[in-house]
Amino acid sequence: MNDYAPEPQIIILDTGGQYTHLISRKVRELGVYAEVRPSETPLAELGNARGVIISGGPSSVYETGSPTMDPAVLASSKAVLGICYGQQLMSYLLDGQVRKGDKGEYGIAHLDLKAASPLLKGVADHKQVWMSHRDTVYAPPSGYEVLASTDTCSIAAIGNTEARKYAVQFHPEVVHTHEGRKVLHNFLFDICGCTRDWEPASRVPVVEKSIVEVAAGRNIFFFVSGGVDSTVAYTLCLKALNDERVHGAYVDTGLMREDETEFVRGIFASLGARNFEVVDARDEFLKALEGATEPERKRRIIGEKFVEIQQRILESGHYLDGQWILGQGTIYPDTIESGGTAKADLIKTHHNRVAGIQKLIDENRIVEPLTQFYKDEVREIGRELGLPAEFLERHPFPGPGLAIRCLCADIDEPLTPTNLGIIAPVHSVGVQGDSRSYRPVLVVDHLDQHRAADAINVDMRVNRVIGTICVREPVSKMRVHSAAITLDRMNKLRRVDAIVRRISHESGYDKTVWQFPVVLIPLGAAPGEDSVVLRPIDSVDGMTAQSVAIPDGVREQMLAELLAVDGIAGVFLDLTHKPPGTIEWE
Ligand code: XMP
Repeated sequence: MNDYAPEPQIIILDTGGQYTHLISRKVRELGVYAEVRPSETPLAELGNARGVIISGGPSSVYETGSPTMDPAVLASSKAVLGICYGQQLMSYLLDGQVRKGDKGEYGIAHLDLKAASPLLKGVADHKQVWMSHRDTVYAPPSGYEVLASTDTCSIAAIGNTEARKYAVQFHPEVVHTHEGRKVLHNFLFDICGCTRDWEPASRVPVVEKSIVEVAAGRNIFFFVSGGVDSTVAYTLCLKALNDERVHGAYVDTGLMREDETEFVRGIFASLGARNFEVVDARDEFLKALEGATEPERKRRIIGEKFVEIQQRILESGHYLDGQWILGQGTIYPDTIESGGTAKADLIKTHHNRVAGIQKLIDENRIVEPLTQFYKDEVREIGRELGLPAEFLERHPFPGPGLAIRCLCADIDEPLTPTNLGIIAPVHSVGVQGDSRSYRPVLVVDHLDQHRAADAINVDMRVNRVIGTICVREPVSKMRVHSAAITLDRMNKLRRVDAIVRRISHESGYDKTVWQFPVVLIPLGAAPGEDSVVLRPIDSVDGMTAQSVAIPDGVREQMLAELLAVDGIAGVFLDLTHKPPGTIEWE
Protein backbone atom coordinates (compact mmCIF):
# COMPACT_ATOMS: atom_id res chain seq x y z
CA MET A 1 0.00 0.00 0.00
CA ASN A 2 1.81 3.08 -1.20
CA ASP A 3 -0.99 5.50 -0.40
CA TYR A 4 0.80 6.38 2.82
CA ALA A 5 3.78 7.97 1.09
CA PRO A 6 4.74 10.23 -1.81
CA GLU A 7 6.45 8.94 -4.95
CA PRO A 8 10.12 8.45 -4.06
CA GLN A 9 12.57 11.06 -5.28
CA ILE A 10 15.43 8.67 -4.61
CA ILE A 11 15.48 4.94 -5.30
CA ILE A 12 18.12 2.75 -3.71
CA LEU A 13 18.97 -0.29 -5.79
CA ASP A 14 19.68 -3.10 -3.34
CA THR A 15 22.65 -5.30 -4.20
CA GLY A 16 22.35 -7.26 -0.96
CA GLY A 17 24.43 -5.13 1.37
CA GLN A 18 23.78 -4.90 5.07
CA TYR A 19 23.80 -1.10 4.84
CA THR A 20 21.12 -0.74 2.15
CA HIS A 21 18.42 0.33 4.59
CA LEU A 22 20.88 2.59 6.36
CA ILE A 23 21.39 4.51 3.10
CA SER A 24 17.65 4.87 2.70
CA ARG A 25 17.25 6.03 6.30
CA LYS A 26 20.04 8.60 5.94
CA VAL A 27 18.40 10.01 2.80
CA ARG A 28 15.06 10.26 4.59
CA GLU A 29 16.73 11.91 7.59
CA LEU A 30 17.79 14.63 5.16
CA GLY A 31 14.09 15.14 4.40
CA VAL A 32 13.91 13.33 1.07
CA TYR A 33 11.60 10.34 0.59
CA ALA A 34 13.49 7.25 -0.59
CA GLU A 35 12.56 3.63 -1.24
CA VAL A 36 14.59 0.46 -1.70
CA ARG A 37 14.09 -1.67 -4.83
CA PRO A 38 15.81 -4.83 -6.14
CA SER A 39 19.01 -3.92 -7.99
CA GLU A 40 17.72 -5.24 -11.31
CA THR A 41 14.62 -3.00 -11.40
CA PRO A 42 14.32 -1.76 -15.01
CA LEU A 43 14.71 1.96 -15.75
CA ALA A 44 11.05 2.11 -16.83
CA GLU A 45 9.99 1.18 -13.29
CA LEU A 46 11.99 3.93 -11.61
CA GLY A 47 9.26 6.44 -12.43
CA ASN A 48 10.04 10.07 -11.79
CA ALA A 49 12.79 9.42 -9.27
CA ARG A 50 15.36 12.19 -9.51
CA GLY A 51 18.26 10.04 -8.44
CA VAL A 52 19.38 6.45 -7.99
CA ILE A 53 21.79 5.12 -5.39
CA ILE A 54 23.35 1.71 -5.96
CA SER A 55 24.05 0.06 -2.60
CA GLY A 56 27.07 -1.86 -1.41
CA GLY A 57 26.91 -5.64 -1.24
CA PRO A 58 28.99 -8.68 -0.34
CA SER A 59 29.35 -10.10 -3.88
CA SER A 60 32.03 -9.73 -6.50
CA VAL A 61 30.95 -8.44 -9.92
CA TYR A 62 32.88 -11.37 -11.40
CA GLU A 63 30.91 -14.09 -9.64
CA THR A 64 28.21 -15.70 -11.71
CA GLY A 65 24.81 -14.73 -10.43
CA SER A 66 26.09 -11.67 -8.59
CA PRO A 67 23.62 -8.76 -8.46
CA THR A 68 23.53 -6.53 -11.52
CA MET A 69 21.40 -3.63 -12.76
CA ASP A 70 19.69 -2.32 -15.85
CA PRO A 71 22.54 -0.62 -17.82
CA ALA A 72 19.93 1.78 -19.22
CA VAL A 73 19.90 3.49 -15.82
CA LEU A 74 23.55 4.46 -16.33
CA ALA A 75 22.78 5.78 -19.81
CA SER A 76 19.71 7.69 -18.65
CA SER A 77 19.47 11.31 -17.59
CA LYS A 78 18.91 10.33 -13.94
CA ALA A 79 21.62 11.20 -11.43
CA VAL A 80 23.37 8.10 -10.04
CA LEU A 81 25.58 7.44 -7.01
CA GLY A 82 27.23 4.02 -6.70
CA ILE A 83 28.46 3.01 -3.26
CA CYS A 84 31.15 0.32 -2.74
CA TYR A 85 29.85 -2.63 -4.81
CA GLY A 86 27.80 0.05 -6.59
CA GLN A 87 31.03 1.72 -7.75
CA GLN A 88 32.42 -1.63 -8.90
CA LEU A 89 29.20 -2.53 -10.72
CA MET A 90 29.08 0.83 -12.53
CA SER A 91 32.72 0.49 -13.55
CA TYR A 92 32.22 -3.10 -14.67
CA LEU A 93 29.09 -2.34 -16.74
CA LEU A 94 30.66 0.72 -18.34
CA ASP A 95 34.19 0.24 -19.66
CA GLY A 96 36.16 0.57 -16.42
CA GLN A 97 38.29 -2.16 -14.85
CA VAL A 98 37.64 -3.95 -11.59
CA ARG A 99 40.25 -6.11 -9.90
CA LYS A 100 39.28 -9.09 -7.83
CA GLY A 101 40.97 -8.46 -4.47
CA ASP A 102 42.99 -11.14 -2.67
CA LYS A 103 42.31 -9.60 0.67
CA GLY A 104 39.96 -6.86 1.68
CA GLU A 105 40.29 -3.39 3.12
CA TYR A 106 38.10 -3.04 6.17
CA GLY A 107 37.99 -0.07 8.47
CA ILE A 108 39.11 3.51 8.66
CA ALA A 109 40.96 5.32 5.86
CA HIS A 110 41.57 8.95 4.95
CA LEU A 111 40.38 10.58 1.78
CA ASP A 112 42.88 12.52 -0.37
CA LEU A 113 41.00 14.79 -2.72
CA LYS A 114 42.24 14.69 -6.33
CA ALA A 115 39.80 16.96 -8.15
CA ALA A 116 37.03 19.40 -7.35
CA SER A 117 33.51 18.01 -7.79
CA PRO A 118 29.91 18.77 -6.82
CA LEU A 119 29.83 15.45 -4.94
CA LEU A 120 32.71 16.20 -2.58
CA LYS A 121 32.15 19.95 -2.39
CA GLY A 122 32.89 21.22 1.12
CA VAL A 123 34.47 17.92 2.23
CA ALA A 124 37.81 18.70 3.87
CA ASP A 125 40.95 17.01 2.59
CA HIS A 126 42.16 13.97 4.50
CA LYS A 127 38.82 13.33 6.20
CA GLN A 128 38.14 9.95 7.77
CA VAL A 129 36.07 7.48 5.72
CA TRP A 130 34.94 3.89 6.32
CA MET A 131 35.98 1.18 3.86
CA SER A 132 34.70 -2.36 3.62
CA HIS A 133 35.58 -4.06 0.34
CA ARG A 134 37.56 -6.80 -1.32
CA ASP A 135 37.41 -5.94 -5.04
CA THR A 136 38.60 -2.53 -6.26
CA VAL A 137 38.23 -0.37 -9.34
CA TYR A 138 41.63 0.19 -10.92
CA ALA A 139 40.62 2.02 -14.10
CA PRO A 140 37.58 4.30 -14.15
CA PRO A 141 35.16 4.17 -17.10
CA SER A 142 35.91 6.64 -19.89
CA GLY A 143 34.51 10.07 -19.20
CA TYR A 144 34.97 9.52 -15.44
CA GLU A 145 37.54 11.41 -13.40
CA VAL A 146 39.16 10.16 -10.21
CA LEU A 147 37.93 12.49 -7.47
CA ALA A 148 39.66 11.01 -4.43
CA SER A 149 41.93 8.23 -3.24
CA THR A 150 43.17 6.74 0.03
CA ASP A 151 46.53 5.20 0.98
CA THR A 152 45.39 1.74 -0.04
CA CYS A 153 42.71 2.52 -2.60
CA SER A 154 43.76 4.74 -5.49
CA ILE A 155 40.22 5.03 -6.84
CA ALA A 156 38.04 5.91 -3.85
CA ALA A 157 35.65 8.25 -5.70
CA ILE A 158 34.90 8.86 -9.38
CA GLY A 159 32.55 11.12 -11.25
CA ASN A 160 31.26 12.27 -14.59
CA THR A 161 29.92 15.70 -13.74
CA GLU A 162 28.20 16.32 -17.06
CA ALA A 163 26.30 13.02 -16.92
CA ARG A 164 25.61 13.46 -13.16
CA LYS A 165 27.00 9.99 -12.45
CA TYR A 166 29.20 9.43 -9.37
CA ALA A 167 30.55 6.54 -7.36
CA VAL A 168 32.49 6.06 -4.13
CA GLN A 169 34.33 3.06 -2.72
CA PHE A 170 33.79 4.22 0.87
CA HIS A 171 30.48 4.19 2.77
CA PRO A 172 29.02 7.70 3.19
CA GLU A 173 26.03 6.26 5.10
CA VAL A 174 27.96 5.06 8.17
CA VAL A 175 28.93 7.27 11.11
CA HIS A 176 32.61 6.40 10.77
CA THR A 177 32.69 8.39 7.52
CA HIS A 178 32.89 11.77 9.14
CA GLU A 179 31.54 13.87 6.30
CA GLY A 180 29.28 11.20 4.83
CA ARG A 181 26.19 13.25 5.51
CA LYS A 182 27.65 16.13 3.52
CA VAL A 183 28.37 13.81 0.57
CA LEU A 184 24.76 12.56 0.59
CA HIS A 185 23.48 16.11 1.01
CA ASN A 186 25.49 17.25 -2.02
CA PHE A 187 24.14 14.36 -4.07
CA LEU A 188 20.51 14.89 -3.10
CA PHE A 189 20.19 18.64 -3.31
CA ASP A 190 22.97 19.91 -5.61
CA ILE A 191 23.21 17.00 -8.03
CA CYS A 192 19.70 15.49 -8.09
CA GLY A 193 17.86 18.73 -7.32
CA CYS A 194 15.65 17.06 -4.70
CA THR A 195 13.23 19.06 -2.59
CA ARG A 196 12.40 18.33 1.04
CA ASP A 197 9.21 16.29 1.04
CA TRP A 198 9.54 13.95 4.00
CA GLU A 199 8.69 14.46 7.63
CA PRO A 200 7.12 11.33 9.16
CA ALA A 201 5.11 13.09 11.89
CA SER A 202 3.31 15.19 9.30
CA ARG A 203 2.12 12.01 7.53
CA VAL A 204 -0.30 11.14 10.32
CA PRO A 205 -3.43 12.64 8.66
CA VAL A 206 -2.64 10.88 5.34
CA VAL A 207 -2.13 7.56 7.11
CA GLU A 208 -5.38 7.94 9.05
CA LYS A 209 -7.27 8.71 5.87
CA SER A 210 -5.85 5.58 4.23
CA ILE A 211 -6.87 3.47 7.20
CA VAL A 212 -10.46 4.64 6.82
CA GLU A 213 -10.36 3.79 3.12
CA VAL A 214 -8.85 0.34 3.60
CA ALA A 215 -11.24 -0.51 6.43
CA ALA A 216 -14.16 0.48 4.15
CA GLY A 217 -16.72 0.28 6.95
CA ARG A 218 -15.26 -2.86 8.52
CA ASN A 219 -13.70 -3.17 11.99
CA ILE A 220 -10.02 -3.79 12.82
CA PHE A 221 -8.58 -6.43 15.12
CA PHE A 222 -4.96 -6.43 16.37
CA PHE A 223 -2.67 -8.82 18.18
CA VAL A 224 -0.42 -6.47 20.12
CA SER A 225 2.93 -7.41 21.59
CA GLY A 226 3.50 -4.36 23.77
CA GLY A 227 6.25 -3.36 21.33
CA VAL A 228 6.48 0.04 19.67
CA ASP A 229 5.34 -0.96 16.16
CA SER A 230 2.10 -2.75 16.98
CA THR A 231 1.17 -0.12 19.58
CA VAL A 232 1.72 2.81 17.22
CA ALA A 233 -0.21 1.02 14.44
CA TYR A 234 -3.04 0.33 16.90
CA THR A 235 -3.10 3.95 18.04
CA LEU A 236 -3.33 5.19 14.46
CA CYS A 237 -6.30 2.90 13.79
CA LEU A 238 -7.93 3.93 17.04
CA LYS A 239 -7.65 7.58 16.03
CA ALA A 240 -8.77 6.93 12.46
CA LEU A 241 -11.84 4.90 13.46
CA ASN A 242 -13.01 4.72 17.05
CA ASP A 243 -12.80 2.56 20.11
CA GLU A 244 -15.85 0.47 19.18
CA ARG A 245 -14.35 -0.50 15.84
CA VAL A 246 -10.78 -1.31 16.94
CA HIS A 247 -10.19 -4.33 19.15
CA GLY A 248 -6.94 -5.78 20.40
CA ALA A 249 -5.59 -8.78 22.28
CA TYR A 250 -2.30 -9.19 24.11
CA VAL A 251 -1.21 -12.71 24.98
CA ASP A 252 0.55 -12.99 28.33
CA THR A 253 2.87 -15.95 27.70
CA GLY A 254 4.41 -15.86 31.16
CA LEU A 255 7.71 -15.38 29.32
CA MET A 256 7.48 -11.62 29.69
CA ARG A 257 9.52 -9.28 31.86
CA GLU A 258 8.54 -8.29 35.35
CA ASP A 259 5.41 -6.09 35.38
CA GLU A 260 5.27 -6.09 31.57
CA THR A 261 1.62 -7.08 31.35
CA GLU A 262 0.62 -4.31 33.75
CA PHE A 263 2.75 -1.86 31.78
CA VAL A 264 1.02 -2.80 28.53
CA ARG A 265 -2.37 -2.65 30.18
CA GLY A 266 -1.53 0.86 31.42
CA ILE A 267 -0.45 2.07 27.97
CA PHE A 268 -3.65 0.82 26.35
CA ALA A 269 -5.80 2.20 29.12
CA SER A 270 -4.19 5.62 28.64
CA LEU A 271 -5.02 5.40 24.94
CA GLY A 272 -8.65 4.94 25.89
CA ALA A 273 -8.75 1.49 24.29
CA ARG A 274 -11.62 -0.21 26.10
CA ASN A 275 -11.87 -3.15 23.70
CA PHE A 276 -8.44 -4.37 24.59
CA GLU A 277 -8.10 -7.79 26.17
CA VAL A 278 -5.22 -9.49 28.02
CA VAL A 279 -5.30 -13.24 27.40
CA ASP A 280 -3.63 -15.12 30.24
CA ALA A 281 -1.78 -18.07 28.69
CA ARG A 282 0.98 -18.34 31.29
CA ASP A 283 0.22 -21.88 32.44
CA GLU A 284 -0.27 -23.12 28.91
CA PHE A 285 3.15 -21.93 27.76
CA LEU A 286 4.93 -23.21 30.86
CA LYS A 287 3.33 -26.62 30.51
CA ALA A 288 4.18 -26.83 26.81
CA LEU A 289 7.82 -25.97 27.56
CA GLU A 290 8.18 -28.57 30.30
CA GLY A 291 11.43 -30.52 29.87
CA ALA A 292 12.43 -28.75 26.63
CA THR A 293 16.12 -27.81 26.79
CA GLU A 294 17.22 -27.55 23.17
CA PRO A 295 16.92 -23.95 21.80
CA GLU A 296 15.25 -24.76 18.50
CA ARG A 297 12.76 -27.02 20.23
CA LYS A 298 11.92 -24.23 22.72
CA ARG A 299 11.37 -21.79 19.87
CA ARG A 300 9.21 -24.26 17.97
CA ILE A 301 7.04 -24.95 21.00
CA ILE A 302 6.58 -21.23 21.66
CA GLY A 303 5.76 -20.52 18.01
CA GLU A 304 3.24 -23.35 17.81
CA LYS A 305 1.58 -22.31 21.05
CA PHE A 306 1.24 -18.76 19.75
CA VAL A 307 -0.39 -20.05 16.58
CA GLU A 308 -2.84 -22.17 18.55
CA ILE A 309 -3.85 -19.35 20.89
CA GLN A 310 -4.15 -16.77 18.13
CA GLN A 311 -6.41 -19.08 16.14
CA ARG A 312 -8.53 -19.61 19.23
CA ILE A 313 -8.87 -15.86 19.84
CA LEU A 314 -9.74 -15.19 16.19
CA GLU A 315 -12.43 -17.86 16.21
CA SER A 316 -13.93 -17.15 19.62
CA GLY A 317 -14.12 -13.40 18.96
CA HIS A 318 -15.73 -13.99 15.52
CA TYR A 319 -12.92 -11.96 14.03
CA LEU A 320 -12.87 -14.17 10.95
CA ASP A 321 -16.28 -13.06 9.74
CA GLY A 322 -16.52 -10.46 6.98
CA GLN A 323 -16.93 -7.52 9.35
CA TRP A 324 -13.33 -7.65 10.55
CA ILE A 325 -9.92 -7.05 9.06
CA LEU A 326 -6.56 -7.61 10.74
CA GLY A 327 -4.26 -4.76 11.70
CA GLN A 328 -0.51 -5.36 11.80
CA GLY A 329 2.49 -3.27 12.86
CA THR A 330 4.68 -4.35 9.92
CA ILE A 331 7.34 -1.70 9.24
CA TYR A 332 9.24 -0.89 6.05
CA PRO A 333 12.33 -3.13 6.42
CA ASP A 334 10.01 -6.13 7.06
CA THR A 335 8.43 -5.68 3.65
CA ILE A 336 11.69 -5.82 1.73
CA GLU A 337 13.28 -9.17 1.13
CA SER A 338 16.83 -8.97 2.41
CA GLY A 339 19.56 -11.05 3.93
CA GLY A 340 18.37 -10.26 7.47
CA THR A 341 18.90 -12.68 10.34
CA ALA A 342 16.88 -15.83 9.81
CA LYS A 343 16.37 -16.16 13.53
CA ALA A 344 14.76 -12.77 13.89
CA ASP A 345 12.20 -13.90 11.33
CA LEU A 346 11.40 -17.15 13.02
CA ILE A 347 8.67 -16.04 15.35
CA LYS A 348 7.12 -13.97 12.58
CA THR A 349 7.07 -17.00 10.29
CA HIS A 350 5.16 -18.86 12.93
CA HIS A 351 2.69 -16.03 13.28
CA ASN A 352 2.20 -15.87 9.54
CA ARG A 353 1.35 -19.52 9.48
CA VAL A 354 -1.72 -19.06 11.66
CA ALA A 355 -4.47 -20.42 9.41
CA GLY A 356 -6.84 -17.59 10.35
CA ILE A 357 -4.26 -14.92 9.58
CA GLN A 358 -3.45 -16.61 6.27
CA LYS A 359 -7.17 -16.52 5.40
CA LEU A 360 -7.31 -12.79 6.14
CA ILE A 361 -4.18 -12.16 4.07
CA ASP A 362 -5.53 -14.24 1.17
CA GLU A 363 -8.74 -12.24 1.25
CA ASN A 364 -6.76 -9.01 1.41
CA ARG A 365 -8.32 -8.18 4.77
CA ILE A 366 -5.20 -6.61 6.26
CA VAL A 367 -4.34 -3.06 7.22
CA GLU A 368 -0.67 -2.23 7.81
CA PRO A 369 -0.35 1.52 8.37
CA LEU A 370 3.41 1.49 9.02
CA THR A 371 4.77 -0.34 5.97
CA GLN A 372 6.35 2.86 4.68
CA PHE A 373 8.27 3.77 7.82
CA TYR A 374 11.52 2.90 9.53
CA LYS A 375 11.69 2.29 13.26
CA ASP A 376 12.95 5.80 14.05
CA GLU A 377 10.13 7.21 11.95
CA VAL A 378 7.58 5.05 13.77
CA ARG A 379 8.89 6.59 17.02
CA GLU A 380 8.41 10.08 15.57
CA ILE A 381 4.83 9.19 14.67
CA GLY A 382 4.34 7.79 18.17
CA ARG A 383 5.57 11.08 19.65
CA GLU A 384 3.18 12.97 17.38
CA LEU A 385 0.35 10.75 18.66
CA GLY A 386 1.32 11.55 22.25
CA LEU A 387 2.66 8.15 23.30
CA PRO A 388 5.04 8.46 26.28
CA ALA A 389 8.76 8.82 25.46
CA GLU A 390 9.58 6.15 28.03
CA PHE A 391 7.57 3.70 25.96
CA LEU A 392 8.82 4.79 22.53
CA GLU A 393 12.49 4.53 23.50
CA ARG A 394 12.25 0.94 24.71
CA HIS A 395 14.96 -1.43 23.55
CA PRO A 396 13.95 -4.20 21.11
CA PHE A 397 12.67 -7.34 22.80
CA PRO A 398 12.45 -10.74 21.06
CA GLY A 399 9.08 -12.33 20.35
CA PRO A 400 9.81 -15.59 22.26
CA GLY A 401 10.57 -13.42 25.28
CA LEU A 402 12.70 -14.42 28.25
CA ALA A 403 12.49 -18.12 27.28
CA ILE A 404 15.42 -17.65 24.90
CA ARG A 405 17.40 -15.91 27.68
CA CYS A 406 16.79 -18.71 30.17
CA LEU A 407 19.35 -21.29 29.11
CA CYS A 408 18.70 -24.94 29.81
CA ALA A 409 20.89 -28.06 29.93
CA ASP A 410 20.40 -31.79 30.22
CA ILE A 411 23.92 -32.53 31.45
CA ASP A 412 25.76 -32.29 34.73
CA GLU A 413 29.39 -31.60 33.88
CA PRO A 414 32.49 -29.85 35.26
CA LEU A 415 34.31 -27.11 33.35
CA THR A 416 37.48 -27.60 31.31
CA PRO A 417 40.53 -25.41 32.06
CA THR A 418 42.58 -24.26 29.02
CA ASN A 419 45.49 -21.85 28.71
CA LEU A 420 43.09 -19.09 27.59
CA GLY A 421 40.48 -19.52 30.32
CA ILE A 422 37.91 -22.10 31.41
CA ILE A 423 35.50 -23.67 28.94
CA ALA A 424 31.96 -24.08 30.31
CA PRO A 425 29.68 -26.51 28.42
CA VAL A 426 26.86 -23.97 28.21
CA HIS A 427 26.11 -23.87 24.49
CA SER A 428 25.01 -20.71 22.71
CA VAL A 429 24.36 -19.65 19.13
CA GLY A 430 26.89 -17.71 17.10
CA VAL A 431 27.44 -16.58 13.52
CA GLN A 432 30.74 -17.65 12.04
CA GLY A 433 31.24 -17.19 8.30
CA ASP A 434 27.86 -17.63 6.68
CA SER A 435 26.53 -20.20 9.07
CA ARG A 436 25.29 -20.42 12.61
CA SER A 437 27.40 -22.19 15.22
CA TYR A 438 26.31 -23.74 18.50
CA ARG A 439 29.27 -24.00 20.87
CA PRO A 440 30.42 -23.78 24.50
CA VAL A 441 31.53 -20.55 26.14
CA LEU A 442 34.97 -19.50 27.39
CA VAL A 443 35.07 -17.94 30.86
CA VAL A 444 37.96 -15.49 31.42
CA ASP A 445 39.08 -13.40 34.37
CA HIS A 446 39.24 -10.04 32.57
CA LEU A 447 36.74 -7.73 30.82
CA ASP A 448 38.76 -6.87 27.70
CA GLN A 449 36.81 -7.27 24.42
CA HIS A 450 39.95 -7.23 22.25
CA ARG A 451 41.53 -10.10 24.14
CA ALA A 452 38.20 -11.94 24.03
CA ALA A 453 38.02 -11.61 20.24
CA ASP A 454 41.58 -12.96 19.93
CA ALA A 455 40.73 -15.89 22.18
CA ILE A 456 37.88 -17.02 19.89
CA ASN A 457 40.20 -16.88 16.89
CA VAL A 458 42.73 -19.03 18.74
CA ASP A 459 40.30 -21.52 20.22
CA MET A 460 37.67 -22.39 17.64
CA ARG A 461 35.92 -24.73 20.07
CA VAL A 462 34.12 -21.70 21.51
CA ASN A 463 32.04 -18.94 19.89
CA ARG A 464 31.55 -16.70 22.92
CA VAL A 465 33.64 -15.29 25.78
CA ILE A 466 32.36 -14.05 29.12
CA GLY A 467 34.42 -12.10 31.65
CA THR A 468 34.00 -12.74 35.37
CA ILE A 469 32.61 -9.77 37.27
CA CYS A 470 32.04 -11.55 40.56
CA VAL A 471 31.53 -15.14 41.74
CA ARG A 472 30.68 -16.68 45.11
CA GLU A 473 32.96 -19.68 44.56
CA PRO A 474 35.93 -19.86 42.15
CA VAL A 475 34.74 -20.59 38.59
CA SER A 476 36.96 -23.70 38.54
CA LYS A 477 34.73 -25.21 41.21
CA MET A 478 31.52 -24.59 39.28
CA ARG A 479 29.62 -27.09 37.13
CA VAL A 480 26.94 -26.85 34.48
CA HIS A 481 23.83 -28.41 35.97
CA SER A 482 20.82 -29.82 34.24
CA ALA A 483 18.05 -27.22 34.17
CA ALA A 484 14.82 -26.59 32.31
CA ILE A 485 12.29 -23.78 32.02
CA THR A 486 10.42 -23.71 35.32
CA LEU A 487 8.38 -21.04 37.02
CA ASP A 488 11.15 -20.65 39.62
CA ARG A 489 13.85 -20.05 37.03
CA MET A 490 11.63 -17.69 35.02
CA ASN A 491 10.91 -15.72 38.17
CA LYS A 492 14.61 -15.61 39.00
CA LEU A 493 15.40 -14.31 35.52
CA ARG A 494 12.58 -11.77 35.73
CA ARG A 495 14.00 -10.53 39.04
CA VAL A 496 17.60 -10.11 37.85
CA ASP A 497 16.43 -8.58 34.57
CA ALA A 498 14.30 -6.06 36.46
CA ILE A 499 17.25 -5.11 38.70
CA VAL A 500 19.52 -4.55 35.71
CA ARG A 501 16.87 -2.57 33.87
CA ARG A 502 16.13 -0.34 36.83
CA ILE A 503 19.78 0.49 37.49
CA SER A 504 20.50 1.03 33.77
CA HIS A 505 17.58 3.39 33.59
CA GLU A 506 18.34 5.33 36.75
CA SER A 507 21.99 5.78 35.80
CA GLY A 508 21.13 6.75 32.21
CA TYR A 509 23.26 3.84 30.97
CA ASP A 510 20.31 2.42 28.99
CA LYS A 511 20.45 5.45 26.67
CA THR A 512 24.00 4.58 25.67
CA VAL A 513 23.27 1.01 24.56
CA TRP A 514 21.08 -0.36 21.78
CA GLN A 515 19.91 -3.44 23.65
CA PHE A 516 20.76 -5.07 26.97
CA PRO A 517 19.74 -8.73 27.27
CA VAL A 518 20.21 -10.35 30.67
CA VAL A 519 20.77 -14.09 30.39
CA LEU A 520 20.43 -16.83 33.00
CA ILE A 521 22.80 -19.79 32.56
CA PRO A 522 22.78 -23.02 34.58
CA LEU A 523 26.30 -22.49 35.91
CA GLY A 524 26.89 -22.70 39.65
CA ALA A 525 28.62 -24.47 42.50
CA ALA A 526 25.48 -26.40 43.51
CA PRO A 527 22.48 -27.79 41.61
CA GLY A 528 19.69 -25.24 41.32
CA GLU A 529 22.16 -22.36 41.18
CA ASP A 530 22.41 -20.14 38.12
CA SER A 531 24.70 -17.37 36.93
CA VAL A 532 23.74 -14.09 35.32
CA VAL A 533 25.33 -12.89 32.09
CA LEU A 534 25.02 -9.21 31.23
CA ARG A 535 24.93 -8.59 27.46
CA PRO A 536 24.90 -4.84 26.74
CA ILE A 537 25.52 -4.16 23.07
CA ASP A 538 25.73 -1.30 20.63
CA SER A 539 24.29 -1.74 17.15
CA VAL A 540 22.57 0.03 14.28
CA ASP A 541 20.00 -2.58 13.33
CA GLY A 542 20.91 -5.75 15.19
CA MET A 543 22.64 -7.29 12.16
CA THR A 544 26.06 -6.67 13.67
CA ALA A 545 26.78 -5.58 17.21
CA GLN A 546 29.61 -4.60 19.54
CA SER A 547 29.88 -5.72 23.11
CA VAL A 548 30.19 -2.61 25.28
CA ALA A 549 31.64 -1.96 28.71
CA ILE A 550 29.61 -1.00 31.79
CA PRO A 551 30.94 1.96 33.83
CA ASP A 552 32.45 0.82 37.15
CA GLY A 553 29.87 2.54 39.37
CA VAL A 554 26.89 1.11 37.47
CA ARG A 555 28.44 -2.36 37.44
CA GLU A 556 29.15 -2.28 41.18
CA GLN A 557 25.59 -1.30 41.96
CA MET A 558 24.17 -4.06 39.77
CA LEU A 559 26.51 -6.58 41.27
CA ALA A 560 25.48 -5.85 44.85
CA GLU A 561 21.79 -6.31 44.07
CA LEU A 562 22.20 -9.31 41.75
CA LEU A 563 24.23 -11.32 44.26
CA ALA A 564 21.52 -10.71 46.85
CA VAL A 565 19.02 -12.67 44.71
CA ASP A 566 18.52 -16.23 45.92
CA GLY A 567 20.36 -18.90 43.90
CA ILE A 568 22.69 -16.62 41.94
CA ALA A 569 26.25 -18.01 41.90
CA GLY A 570 28.00 -15.38 39.81
CA VAL A 571 27.73 -12.42 37.46
CA PHE A 572 29.53 -12.26 34.10
CA LEU A 573 29.84 -9.81 31.23
CA ASP A 574 29.50 -11.09 27.64
CA LEU A 575 32.57 -9.75 25.80
CA THR A 576 31.63 -11.11 22.36
CA HIS A 577 30.87 -8.98 19.32
CA LYS A 578 28.42 -10.11 16.61
CA PRO A 579 29.86 -11.83 14.68
CA PRO A 580 31.10 -14.26 15.99
CA GLY A 581 28.44 -14.29 18.76
CA THR A 582 24.77 -13.42 18.19
CA ILE A 583 23.09 -10.83 20.40
CA GLU A 584 20.82 -13.36 22.05
CA TRP A 585 22.35 -16.59 23.33
CA GLU A 586 19.75 -18.80 21.64
P1 XMP B 1 20.52 -12.19 17.21
O1 XMP B 1 20.43 -12.97 18.47
O2 XMP B 1 20.14 -13.00 15.99
O3 XMP B 1 19.42 -11.05 17.35
O4 XMP B 1 21.84 -11.52 17.03
C1 XMP B 1 19.28 -9.95 16.50
C2 XMP B 1 18.09 -9.12 16.99
O5 XMP B 1 16.88 -9.86 16.80
C3 XMP B 1 16.22 -10.06 18.03
N1 XMP B 1 15.68 -11.42 18.02
C4 XMP B 1 14.38 -11.71 17.84
N2 XMP B 1 13.31 -10.91 17.67
N3 XMP B 1 11.93 -12.82 17.52
C5 XMP B 1 12.07 -11.47 17.52
O6 XMP B 1 11.06 -10.76 17.39
C6 XMP B 1 12.97 -13.69 17.68
O7 XMP B 1 12.81 -14.90 17.67
C7 XMP B 1 14.26 -13.09 17.86
N4 XMP B 1 15.50 -13.61 18.03
C8 XMP B 1 16.36 -12.56 18.13
C9 XMP B 1 17.28 -9.86 19.10
O8 XMP B 1 16.71 -9.49 20.35
C10 XMP B 1 18.14 -8.79 18.47
O9 XMP B 1 17.58 -7.51 18.66
